[in-house]
Amino acid sequence: MSKTLEFMRDVDVEGMACLDAGTGAGRMARYLVRKGARLVYSISNSQEHLHYARSQCSERELQKIVFINADLASLDFLPAETFDLITAHMLINVVPPVKLFSILKELTRVAKRGAVLVLIDYNPLSSYQTSRSHLVEDLFRLENAIRYLIEGEPALVWYPSDYVVDVLERLGWVGEDVRLIYSKTPWEKELLKEHLDEIEEMCRRFRQRDIGERLLQRAVGIVNQIGDDEIIYAGTVYGIRMQKK
Ligand SMILES: C[S@@+](CC[C@H](N)C(=O)[O-])C[C@H]1O[C@@H](n2cnc3c(N)ncnc32)[C@H](O)[C@@H]1O
Repeated sequence: MSKTLEFMRDVDVEGMACLDAGTGAGRMARYLVRKGARLVYSISNSQEHLHYARSQCSERELQKIVFINADLASLDFLPAETFDLITAHMLINVVPPVKLFSILKELTRVAKRGAVLVLIDYNPLSSYQTSRSHLVEDLFRLENAIRYLIEGEPALVWYPSDYVVDVLERLGWVGEDVRLIYSKTPWEKELLKEHLDEIEEMCRRFRQRDIGERLLQRAVGIVNQIGDDEIIYAGTVYGIRMQKK
């Protein structure tokens, strides 16, 4: 996160009304308060994430951050042109394609004219490869396949930065500043194990137990090939900064 926060260094936050879209553990929301935000709306569709994010805040931060459980694709409770700054840190890789446009459209609606959007996310894993990258790809491919079987949509999508800029331009955002934040994305075993936990949880939901068990064993087999201290590099991370016309 610290490297991605460096991308925020030149972004003016002082006195701004901010929206942190897909707030997770709330690090970006707290960073915005530290940088002088007037108010931060911290929105996620996971009550568990919001609860955790709140628990990480000081009293002062709690006075400035409003935690909201909502779907970013329909923010009807917010008037148009409310925010000066919108951040979306590692949000869109968990957003399926059918929903991406709705979310970006809604974020555009609630942004004031001249507002700044900072979107930080992963390029496709093929954008940087080593001889070990296939292990990360195999694990995520399996996670996606299982999620498809269960819910009919992928768990993870790697939208290329060019594509995201193109969609944002169509929605009325200009002056793109696109930079590579990580020219090779490091994947630590601990993080990959969190994905394995997710896979295990999904596999338990299969009615046909043997299918769930076989898929889980494949995922365990992939993670077992990774050394405890090994970092596998795959893909890149980009930052996009644009302004609403
Ligand atoms: C991968 S996490 C990233 C969290 C955090 N921004 C970070 O960088 O650590 C994505 C977050 O977006 C939330 N999210 C995904 N789709 C959403 C949607 N349609 N509406 C609201 N929140 C969403 C998830 O619940 C999760 O909290």
